[in-house]
Amino acid sequence: MDGTTTLAFYGLGAAAVATSVATLRKRLELSRAKHRSLAGHSRIARRLAALVPSYDYDEDRFSCSDGAPEAIAVRRRAGFARLSSLYRARFAETTRRTAEASEAISDLQFTGAYRVPFQFRRLVQAHLPAAAMVQSSNGVTVTDLDGNRSYDLTGSYGVNVFGYDFYKETIERGAARVRELGPVLGLYHPLIVENVKYLKAISGLDEVSFHMSGTEAVMQAVRLARYHTRRSHLVRFCGAYHGWWGDVQPGLGNPAPARGTYTLTEMSEDALRVLRTRRNIACVLVNPLQALHPNAAAPSDSALADSARAVHFDRDAYAAWLKRLRAACSERGIVLIFDEVFVGFRLAKGGAQDYFGVRADLVTYGKTLGGGLPIGVVCGRRNLMKRFRDDRPADICLARGTFNAHPYVMAAMNEFLRYLQTPQADALYRDLDRIWDKRVELLNARLAAEALPVEVANLSSIWTVCYMQPSRYNWMLQYYLRSEGLALSWIGTGRLIFSLNYTDADFAAVADRFVAAAKAMRDDGWWWSSPALTNKAIRRSILKEMVLHRLFSLRERNKH
Ligand SMILES: Cc1ncc(COP(=O)(O)O)c(C=O)c1O
Repeated sequence: MDGTTTLAFYGLGAAAVATSVATLRKRLELSRAKHRSLAGHSRIARRLAALVPSYDYDEDRFSCSDGAPEAIAVRRRAGFARLSSLYRARFAETTRRTAEASEAISDLQFTGAYRVPFQFRRLVQAHLPAAAMVQSSNGVTVTDLDGNRSYDLTGSYGVNVFGYDFYKETIERGAARVRELGPVLGLYHPLIVENVKYLKAISGLDEVSFHMSGTEAVMQAVRLARYHTRRSHLVRFCGAYHGWWGDVQPGLGNPAPARGTYTLTEMSEDALRVLRTRRNIACVLVNPLQALHPNAAAPSDSALADSARAVHFDRDAYAAWLKRLRAACSERGIVLIFDEVFVGFRLAKGGAQDYFGVRADLVTYGKTLGGGLPIGVVCGRRNLMKRFRDDRPADICLARGTFNAHPYVMAAMNEFLRYLQTPQADALYRDLDRIWDKRVELLNARLAAEALPVEVANLSSIWTVCYMQPSRYNWMLQYYLRSEGLALSWIGTGRLIFSLNYTDADFAAVADRFVAAAKAMRDDGWWWSSPALTNKAIRRSILKEMVLHRLFSLRERNKH
């Protein structure tokens, strides 16, 4: 080897080392920017989930899985039996028809199963069966097939912002306006023009595209960001829901890995560092609902193994975070997408952009915007919405959909958007947070006065129930609430969604029923506590149980 070759050799070596150090540093930065919970590590979460054994409690264990003494277990069994008889009598026809339909509706089988932690599922399904059918809605109530009227806290997954009667009217009035055209697709009814005008004004953006669901709107927004930036990856934040498309759901629930997705910690400098150093990031997706519980998944009662559910909504802190995120995205040419499918039109007339005072490049809307019919919308800056390139005719970004801009949906949306322009709508939005914060205070004061270990927390009209003392039975509250005439969605007490037409009197009735339900649950002994019963101890005992069941099932398998 002559001197020049040796030098070149060392030079190459040094360059290779420098490259690997830089790659390693970026890798470490990415690891640091992941949330430390399992939700922040989708691959590990999926692997661990595959290890969770299936087992359930028999009647004895069901009532004392927390180590409660026999006297308490007896009270719990009596309470459970009473509740079960009440369900059988009161919801007879509704549960019968639900069970019948469930045979062939896979969605019902799923929502029926995931209501409580799986160890309790078998006995709960047998004795407190799901009643998932309703006959009618009226004001803030829904009526089931047995004629029971319940206050609606499901909010229809967030669609119901102004009350069911409002949507019945928007659908009817809208249908009348497009009846002459009927379901002609591909060509537009001219009222689409007014919808676009309103949506541009609300979003502050230049163009609009119509889709059939929130999931599709998010898919399109991300696809456009990838097309225009020519970069591969999307960033989503830990816990945030953006629909069920694989790329935005990299963890549990999606059987395939999402290779073009980074899940980072929200409200974290480490996440901003990743945005500033990686060159492959096309867009950042934000679901402003996460302001209520940053980095945690939507709270569902099937995950209520203990009382660790926590919320910490701080509007100013979240707004400050969004501003920092906005700056980092602008600096790096990353597309900032606000996914307002849930919170748009619920927090403020101008949506989360107005509420938090930060502008996005693309915004997705859905749910209530359809005026009661299915919808997904993307609003965006002109340069990002374009689906072809003038200088490369074969380089396009395709997005079509048979039912996009369906005349009936456009018409119901038009009624919805016109209502937003009225003084009544202005009045509704003006005092929104004050009204709902006050109601939270009222209910919490009543719960505290009764020394009940429950509290509610909110982001405006979106509420969640928190549990103040360690317990394995918090998920039972959903059944007591239903028995008091409060309709909850299948995820139970994790998300109570109020429509804005709740009057103080309606709310007072809900508060009475909530308190009565919590008292009944306490009196039946479910919130028994002891100094040894901490959240940590609960988690440890469940883990131990799982390991034992796993070992036992392995041993059984080896025997055969
Ligand atoms: C923030 C957000 N994005 C997207 C979606 C998906 O919308 P859809 O259920 O209409 O597909 C949802 C649904 O809950 C949502 O909350």
